[in-house]
Amino acid sequence: MTAALGDGPLAGKHVIVTSGPTHEPIDPVRYIANRSSGAQGTAVARALAGLGARVSFVTGPAQVPLPDGVEVTQVETAREMRDAVMSALPADAVICAAAVADWHVINATQTKIKKDGQGRLPHLDFAENPDILAEISASGPARPPLVVGFAAETDDVLAHATAKRLRKGCDWIVANDVSPATGIMGGTENAVTLITADGAETWPRLPKAEVGERLAARIAQALTG
Ligand code: CTP
Ligand code: CA
Repeated sequence: MTAALGDGPLAGKHVIVTSGPTHEPIDPVRYIANRSSGAQGTAVARALAGLGARVSFVTGPAQVPLPDGVEVTQVETAREMRDAVMSALPADAVICAAAVADWHVINATQTKIKKDGQGRLPHLDFAENPDILAEISASGPARPPLVVGFAAETDDVLAHATAKRLRKGCDWIVANDVSPATGIMGGTENAVTLITADGAETWPRLPKAEVGERLAARIAQALTG
């Protein structure tokens, strides 16, 4: 449900949401990426728009349909995502739900790499991608008042996510266990723990749409309360 423009608790607020994976080319036909359907980021953006926010939605190549009622920028790489987020600032809140690839290939080629027929392997050189969440969190006087990251982990979820919140300098981390046994990766439900400066709050396992709505409601509370 989308609120009429100018309606809802987030009316007049600008929120940037990153979503989906990024693809880092190896050559014109191959890339490296993190797994991500884009479902959770899309649900968050949809819910924020439903509360009346102006949403800048910066998405990599996702599998789910784009949400309605948001301003969409489609990107491919982490560096493009970073540039799109920076040009969308200033914002009242930034929600980094994208599964950004950690590295890009610095010797990517413009033409397709061919197997040489003798089993010799191509050599790829990597460089680290910009950390969009950390960069926004440390952006000085222009820093958005609320910066939220996600942490998809497979072990010691709370410990890793709590450390990540401090390391990145963001306000909240939405942590989840994406071990294959949970079925969360690529599924329709999510089971998250919201980590703030006040501690950790575990939510029940819910459809990703409802996780998005709960998170949007918390964001509205934080920005208007
Ligand atoms: N993130 C980002 N830019 C990056 C990497 C991550 O904005 N280059 C954001 C993600 O959108 C997410 C949060 O940072 O909100 C955590 O991502 P994650 O991959 O869990 O953290 P990393 O610091 O990359 O650590 P890890 O080694 O666990 O991948
Ligand atoms: Ca990462």
